[in-house]
Amino acid sequence: MGLESDLPPGGEDDLLQTDTSQFKKERHAMPTNIMIFDTTLRDGEQVPGAKLNPQQKLEIAHQLARLGVDIIEAGFPASSPGDKAAVAQIAKEVRGCTVAGLARIIKQDIDDVWDAVQFAERPRIHVFLGSSDIHLQSKLRMDREKGIEMAVEAVRYSRNLCPDVEYSTEDASRSDFEYMCRVIEAVIEAGAAVVNIPDTVGYAFPDQFGDMIRRIRSTVPNIDKVILSVHCHNDLGLGTANTLAAIQNGARQVEVTVNGIGERAGNTAMEEIVMALRTRRDIFDATTRIQTKEIFKTSRMISRLMNIPVQPNKAIVGSNAFAHSSGIHQDGILKDRATYEIMRPEDVGIKEHAFVLTARSGRHAVRHHLEQKGYHLAEPLFEKVFTRFLDVADRKKEISDDDLESIVDIEISKAPEVYRFVKLQVISGSGVTPISAVTLQKNGETLTDSASGNGPVDATFNCIDRITGFKCTLLEFDLRAVTKGKDAIGEAMVRVEHNGKTITGRGASPDVIDASARAYLNAINRSFVNNMH
Ligand code: KIV
Ligand code: ZN
Repeated sequence: MGLESDLPPGGEDDLLQTDTSQFKKERHAMPTNIMIFDTTLRDGEQVPGAKLNPQQKLEIAHQLARLGVDIIEAGFPASSPGDKAAVAQIAKEVRGCTVAGLARIIKQDIDDVWDAVQFAERPRIHVFLGSSDIHLQSKLRMDREKGIEMAVEAVRYSRNLCPDVEYSTEDASRSDFEYMCRVIEAVIEAGAAVVNIPDTVGYAFPDQFGDMIRRIRSTVPNIDKVILSVHCHNDLGLGTANTLAAIQNGARQVEVTVNGIGERAGNTAMEEIVMALRTRRDIFDATTRIQTKEIFKTSRMISRLMNIPVQPNKAIVGSNAFAHSSGIHQDGILKDRATYEIMRPEDVGIKEHAFVLTARSGRHAVRHHLEQKGYHLAEPLFEKVFTRFLDVADRKKEISDDDLESIVDIEISKAPEVYRFVKLQVISGSGVTPISAVTLQKNGETLTDSASGNGPVDATFNCIDRITGFKCTLLEFDLRAVTKGKDAIGEAMVRVEHNGKTITGRGASPDVIDASARAYLNAINRSFVNNMH
């Protein structure tokens, strides 16, 4: 079963290379469409330090429209004149989706939303009120009956302005079920088109939350007149699981944010829901309008503009989400991607899976990497490169492409090893005469000596001179970092004069003294090419 990367989002029949027949359920002719309500610009923007200016909000809204979200909740217009203006600008300029604004059950809030969203192709007013006793009594100081009365009044008022009104029963998962059902029935009667059930404090558990959605559907008599929506927070890390459980029990709109950003531990992550539905069509038989290839780009734009880094192991969009580091996994992937990949990186807009080369990467992965970079090395040279790779990888956490290329270049430029570098130890510091102890091998014999010098490099070169008996004049010595980061590979270059000839030597290592020793020894070995003794 082959993977085709240009399948339409959600229209794919054959997502897994793995034989999923054991999981397959009977499919309906048309999968259920799940509406994606994106609240990155409202709930997401409430994150401390993530405040956006109107231009940035507009830029993100355009990208959300390209991504294919059904509804953009563009802001909370009553919160500030700036936010109201930003929501209005989004409503005026962004096409192809509904633009919503949030309001408390206060006339002024609702007017502010309408002032801003009325310009949208499809405007929506989203009103909310707590339905749990904790919210009604402690926060709002009102009784349950007053809560119903005010909710109904707010929905009626909104309906007079806008045909599309969403009502949210804030803190639904901690609300009295019978009371919440009465609220839902009343707001539907008052004209709400969407009823949203939020797990405001991330308290619900998947079975329980799914069951609550199922019971709402079987208890509220007029529930078929509305789209049932859910909005989950991630305080116990269950936002995605709860949202998926709600979909399995009849929710048809999901409120999400890109990268899962939002109040406290955040909201359900858009990309997780979209890719879970897409990857496990065998379970959900549901689809979204999301252009999945836009996911990664959107994720990075939000992260950059909101100043919130994406954790490396974040599902779908983390930098490691499609990176394989273990040698066994890399070998498996090269033989058949399905061994360790359930999604194609290109489907979320990531060019390809990344192989992170570490000390655990095997020959197969290193060779594959080199071949991709255009190095087709004969076996003996490859073995040298691989040995050096392991040596460097033991000291560096990750070997980058630049590191690997530098290792290959050095190995390619090497002369036959008359003297083989084994190890080096240097004592150096302020007010201390540097001493270097070097071990080399010649014809299988181990040679060790030590020497002092004006600096650690000088001491090392003196020591190598003592062991090899080599006499030369150092003309030039250059050291540079060839790769990035604190643990970058340093490349040393030496030019020496020996018997009237100028010889160059190069060496590389994460340790600069080690690199210098290798470069010096490389020059010595090269001196034997025309001058064997
Ligand atoms: O978490 C929540 O309850 C909300 C509502 C306003 C929908 O964000
Ligand atoms: Zn929320």
